[in-house]
Amino acid sequence: MTATPILVVGGAGYIGSHTCLALSERGYLPVVYDNFTSGHPEFVKWGPAEQGDIRDKARLKEVLAKYQPKAAMHFAGLIEVGQSFKEPEHFYDVNVSGTLSLLQALSEADIRNFVFSSTCATYGAPEYLPLDEKHGQKPINPYGRTKHIVEQALGDLNLCGRMRSVMLRYFNAAGADFEGRIGEWHSPETHAIPLAIETALGRREFFSIFGEDYDTRDGTCIRDYIHVNDLADAHVRAVEYLLNGGETIAINLGTGNGTTVKELITAIETVSGRPMPIKRTERRPGDPPGLVASNALAREVLGWDPKHGIDDIIRSAWKWHSTFNGHSD
Ligand SMILES: NC(=O)c1ccc[n+]([C@@H]2O[C@H](COP(=O)([O-])OP(=O)(O)OC[C@H]3O[C@@H](n4cnc5c(N)ncnc54)[C@H](O)[C@@H]3O)[C@@H](O)[C@H]2O)c1
Repeated sequence: MTATPILVVGGAGYIGSHTCLALSERGYLPVVYDNFTSGHPEFVKWGPAEQGDIRDKARLKEVLAKYQPKAAMHFAGLIEVGQSFKEPEHFYDVNVSGTLSLLQALSEADIRNFVFSSTCATYGAPEYLPLDEKHGQKPINPYGRTKHIVEQALGDLNLCGRMRSVMLRYFNAAGADFEGRIGEWHSPETHAIPLAIETALGRREFFSIFGEDYDTRDGTCIRDYIHVNDLADAHVRAVEYLLNGGETIAINLGTGNGTTVKELITAIETVSGRPMPIKRTERRPGDPPGLVASNALAREVLGWDPKHGIDDIIRSAWKWHSTFNGHSD
C-alpha cells in the first residue's frame, strides 16, 4: 500500500520538519512545500520537497496536481512579533494574503481538510489562567492579529462548506528531535530556550531577564513550554480527526504547566553544568506575566497527552544546539 500524501506547507521550518518526521513514522508521506526563506533544505528528510511560495497559486496548483494530498498542514509564515511591528504590510501579505492564496488553491483542487498553525498570541493579554479556548481573542500585536484573521476566515470557509479545519493554538514551542537530526534554527533567534542555551555554550555574551518584579512565584514571567514532538503528535492526530470527518475546531496546545524564566535558567545550568552570564533589564512592553494553557479540549477531542516536560525539552534542545552550530545571526 502506498503512503497517504499530506501537504506540509512550511515543512522545512522548525515545527513543520518535526511534524514531517511524525507523519512519516505513522505511515504518511509528508510533501513539503516551502520557499526556504526561514526553513532549511537539510530539514526535509522524510518526503519530497517542492520549492514555492504560498502566494504563488499557480505553483501550488501544480504541486497539488502532482501529489494529490488528502489534507494540508499550514506552518508557513512570518513568526517574529517584533518584526510584525516594523513590517506589518509584509506580515499581512504573507500570513493573510498568502494563506488565502493557499486556501483557494486547495479548494480548487477539492482538498477540504486543513490544519492551521495558530498561536496563543491570538488571545492577547490573559483575563484568567489557564487560558481555555473560550477566552476572548484580542491580539495585541500585528502577528497575533494576522493569525486571528485567518482563524476567522477558516470559520467562514467552514460555514460555507468549503473547508474543515483544526486551528492549533500553540503556546511556546521548544525542544528538538531526541536523536539530534533536526532542531530549532531561527535567524534571528528570539526564543528564550535557544538564546539561553547559546549563552551557556558561550556563543552569546549574556542572557537577558526582562523584569523581575512580576506578580509570579519568583518575579519573572511564566510561560508554558511545549515539546515540539508533542506538537508534531497533535498535528498527526488533528489530520486523522479531519480525515475521519471531524468538525472545524480551535484547540490549545500546551502542557498546562508554567515555567518561570529563573526556573528555565536553573534547569539549563543543571543540564549544561555551566553557569550563565545574566543581564537584568526592564520589563518589555506587551509581555504578560503568565501564559499557561488549558489543554482539556486537546485531550478530549484528539486524545492527546503531552509526554515531555521541561527537563526533556532542555535535554533535547541542549543536544541539538551543542552539536549544531549553523546559526548565521
Ligand atoms: N515557534 C513557536 O513557538 C510558535 C508558537 C506559536 C505559533 N507558531 C506558528 O507555527 C508556525 C511554524 O513556526 P516555526 O517556528 O516552525 O517557524 P519557521 O520559521 O521555522 O518555519 C516557517 C516555514 O515557513 C516557510 N515560509 C515562510 N514564508 C513562506 C512563504 N511565503 N511561502 C512558503 N513558505 C514559507 C519558511 O521557509 C519556513 O520553512 C508559524 O506559522 C508560527 O506562526 C510558532
